[in-house]
Amino acid sequence: MLPVPTPDALAHSQRVAAHLRALIAEAGGWIPFSRYMEAALYAPGLGYYAAGAMKFGAAGDFVTAPEMTPLFGRTLAHAIVPALAETGGEVLELGAGSGRLAMDLLGELKRVNALPSRYLILEVSADLRQRQQENITRELPQLADRVQWLDALPAHFSGVILGNELLDALPVELVHWTENAPLSHGVVVEADAFAWQDRPIADPVLRARADALNLAPGYLSEINLAADALITSLAQCLDRGLILMIDYGFGQSEYYHPQRHMGTLRAHYRHHALDDPFYLPGLCDLTAHVDFSAVARAGVAAGLELAGYASQASFLLNSGLTELLMQTPPSDAAAYLPQSNAVQRLVSPAEMGELFKVIGLAKGGIAPLAGLARGDRRHSL
Ligand SMILES: C[S@@+](CC[C@H](N)C(=O)[O-])C[C@H]1O[C@@H](n2cnc3c(N)ncnc32)[C@H](O)[C@@H]1O
Repeated sequence: MLPVPTPDALAHSQRVAAHLRALIAEAGGWIPFSRYMEAALYAPGLGYYAAGAMKFGAAGDFVTAPEMTPLFGRTLAHAIVPALAETGGEVLELGAGSGRLAMDLLGELKRVNALPSRYLILEVSADLRQRQQENITRELPQLADRVQWLDALPAHFSGVILGNELLDALPVELVHWTENAPLSHGVVVEADAFAWQDRPIADPVLRARADALNLAPGYLSEINLAADALITSLAQCLDRGLILMIDYGFGQSEYYHPQRHMGTLRAHYRHHALDDPFYLPGLCDLTAHVDFSAVARAGVAAGLELAGYASQASFLLNSGLTELLMQTPPSDAAAYLPQSNAVQRLVSPAEMGELFKVIGLAKGGIAPLAGLARGDRRHSL
């Protein structure tokens, strides 16, 4: 049974639905799914990420790695120290959620004497940006002055760009492959409810991507053009350094596997994963897995080098996760057990270890990261 929303939450969702219906009406009765997803997640004051919902953690809708244990951010700090030293650069985090990763990273970089002069955050949600500012000022006052929020990507940047569970939160196009041509699986309103309707694909870039995938009639899946655009913009602003994106997903052949013929789009509501993206708009997170082959291709096309691709388990273990865990003595069960349980979730193949991947894209001859350099033959792009 799904938890019942409060009357206030339900009223909020009805406002979001009304906004979506108005968008569809303004567009002449049909919008591509990417437009629906963008508004359901990011419409100012309304969308899931743009209004006050709890989202992260036990009381929210999903738990991300930084919310599970500080060891995630601390390990990531060790992983990026060489690249920061090499570039003399800064950190730029995209989509910082509650600010947890920023705090754990900065705390550890301070401990190992590798603090960047600035830690920049680019966050699209004004509500989350405010929460990040409050959390960081309260929990890390001594380093808060190094954190700066940006309104747009900088024109030039050297250092390390990070995104944890960022790419899965970008609006995706839904494509329905048919006997004749791939179609855009978009949204209409029927009797006041959202419904699906396929239309010809107007965007030549999307059409070319869909044609190239050449999937069997009936196949329905996502193409994340927003991820390509973001990687291209990051490549343009990066003078020298490394981009690390961590997310759940696969290489292209696994992503568009015949068995995954209904795609990977899901709604997340209070720790339940649902197939229906129209359920309670504004109260559900909407996500799609990441096609890491497309991310790598977009990076290389924009002048970046593929610096590595590994499972989260392999990346974290090769970056020193176990050594950090062992700093808490197992004899101190009250401190050790919650951390070792979280580590287990991060690396276990049955949980996040294999589904989550780390991709590195570099510019300017950055030495390979230990976490990526040792290779991970089980996953290919
Ligand atoms: C699933 S949450 C992950 C939050 C955090 N990184 C974590 O791991 O807990 C996605 C985050 O990305 C932000 N976001 C989405 N699109 C973005 C974009 N184009 N630029 C910057 N942030 C974005 C969202 O507002 C949200 O903070």
